[in-house]
Amino acid sequence: MTSALPILHVDDVTVRFGGVTAVDGVTLRVERGSRWAVIGPNGAGKTTLFKAISGEVRPTIGRVHLFGADTSRAHPNRKAQRGLGRTYQVSELFQALTVEENMAIAAQARTPSRFHSWRPLRIRGWIDERITSALDQLQISDERFTVVSEMSHGQQRSLEIAIALATKPEVLLLDEPAAGLSAAERRIMKDLVESLPRDLTIVLIEHDMEIALELVDRVLVLDNGKMIAEGNPDEIRSNQHVQDVYLKS
Ligand SMILES: Nc1ncnc2c1ncn2[C@@H]1O[C@H](COP(=O)(O)OP(=O)(O)O)[C@@H](O)[C@H]1O
Ligand SMILES: [Mg+2]
Repeated sequence: MTSALPILHVDDVTVRFGGVTAVDGVTLRVERGSRWAVIGPNGAGKTTLFKAISGEVRPTIGRVHLFGADTSRAHPNRKAQRGLGRTYQVSELFQALTVEENMAIAAQARTPSRFHSWRPLRIRGWIDERITSALDQLQISDERFTVVSEMSHGQQRSLEIAIALATKPEVLLLDEPAAGLSAAERRIMKDLVESLPRDLTIVLIEHDMEIALELVDRVLVLDNGKMIAEGNPDEIRSNQHVQDVYLKS
């Protein structure tokens, strides 16, 4: 029996910041095309785990394999170019610019090029095609020329995902895509994430456990940097330790 290499393998990773152990011996094997949620209370180490995967922080101990290669020390740009997409818990949008301008800047920043002419408003053919398709997928095509500050919070979070999709990632990390949204906007965001291409591998961080469990096949639960449970949504729902952690948070 052979099993395919996971597309993402976090292998016993620990991340320390001085005396703080933010991630403590976490292992995660993500198969191609699967959808995972990482859940847990504030401060559990979820965002730091994403940073270790994306290369924004280096694991103090352990390894991160992506696409079958050891990328523990690879630069974030290199991982992005190879096919890792990511959105952030806190918005990185340029509020005074339009949707299209934000996407063009992001696309150019992530394009491997020895010479950046830095003319973000010049949209080249392939960039235009990707922008159009990503905006369609997130149902914000009508906002292409809207200034970001005039969009609803929900639309802005959709734009952040569209920007990540425009780089055609194979693995997409979403850090709390529904953070700060109203209940109605959260339902829309859930449907949008659900409608993303099935061959895209997704790992999402979501504080709202019910939304998270409806979206994924597998769940990792962190508390104080440590894995306290891993399983399918039903197993996580009925796990007493997980319920205790959520009740005290
Ligand atoms: N750059 C940093 N320097 C020091 N401590 C940090 C840093 N980033 C995160 N931490 C700490 O690591 C722990 C985990 O944080 P974080 O990964 O943001 O948790 P979560 O995303 O689950 O809320 C927290 O105690 C946080 O204060
Ligand atoms: Mg976080």
